[in-house]
Amino acid sequence: MRNVTLTDLFQHPITQKYLQRSGVAHAIEVTNHAFHLAFKYNVSVDLATKAALLHDIGHYEWYRQGKWDYELYRKNDIHAIKGAERAHKLLIRLGENPQNAKVISVAILLHTDSYLPEIDINRSPLQKVVKLADEMDEEQAGKHHYKQIDKVTALEKIQHLDELVERYLSKQQLPLDNQEKLM
Ligand SMILES: [Fe+2]
Repeated sequence: MRNVTLTDLFQHPITQKYLQRSGVAHAIEVTNHAFHLAFKYNVSVDLATKAALLHDIGHYEWYRQGKWDYELYRKNDIHAIKGAERAHKLLIRLGENPQNAKVISVAILLHTDSYLPEIDINRSPLQKVVKLADEMDEEQAGKHHYKQIDKVTALEKIQHLDELVERYLSKQQLPLDNQEKLM
């Protein structure tokens, strides 16, 4: 059992507030991609899905006269830094293991190059998973941030992802031959 579930994170008012800016539907899609990519890259499904769910909670609203101003956003955005910090605070507050909170937070910090100077980053497999999962849901002109989902469906999807993560984690604790029987 995990100390903190995706549902705990998703339902928290902090997450609800900031996901309204960056898009609940986008966060859920990225979490779903991260779940599948975690197997391919052999990284923790628990950490990958949590980082994916929270990866965009650092967004500020770059509105000018009622419209999102991409020029202003490109110049001034630091959403990955803000998101990493917000996610860390939230995870610790909810009782996440501090080492997990750090790993998730750093994966959020490095999920995009958009705010970074021109340097090559050698990302860990977990950090790659979160970046790739985000890119898999990206649409032109930031349209992925505007996709809609109703509240009931969103919560159901998150709860389903929690079940998948729990099922996978409990399977991992079984002896190898029992694991195969469950596949
Ligand atoms: Fe994103």
